[in-house]
Amino acid sequence: MKITVRLQINGAEARFEVDSTERLVDTLREKAGLTGTKVGCGIGECGACSVLLDGKVVSACLVLTAQVDGAKVATVEGLGKAGELSDLQGAFVREGAIQCGYCTPGMLMAAEAILARYRRPTTEQIRKGISGNLCRCTGYAKIVSAIRKTAGRRAIQRSGR
Ligand code: FES
Ligand code: FES
Repeated sequence: MKITVRLQINGAEARFEVDSTERLVDTLREKAGLTGTKVGCGIGECGACSVLLDGKVVSACLVLTAQVDGAKVATVEGLGKAGELSDLQGAFVREGAIQCGYCTPGMLMAAEAILARYRRPTTEQIRKGISGNLCRCTGYAKIVSAIRKTAGRRAIQRSGR
């Protein structure tokens, strides 16, 4: 039996017919066509599938779509505008925080959650915030730097300088 689920994905309303065991990551990738969200381990350990669910970072491989009817989902596709990177994405590029890129969509979503929680996160807060996201390439320092610099730029923008 299929279950009807309504989600708001990156601000747009969507409706899906899903099996009770369908994972959110599969709904996003296969039904919504949002393949930016990656699947790595499939068991909640790598963070490649991280999305924001009602503002909180979740591993979309561990969430059943049928359980989140009515939720707001944010994926990497919602960060920039067409042809234009978001400030955070731009910082990742400038800082060299991307190599193979497989972890990047999930890392960006974890980073947005940190930036939503802390106006000027410390290195420790950033490291803790991305601790569920594995990166095999970068060594993390450039990722931390990109997040810290984005926080700094947003703080300046907020203060109107
Ligand atoms: S694919 Fe979901 S945590 Fe690894
Ligand atoms: S850039 Fe390759 S896993 Fe992070």
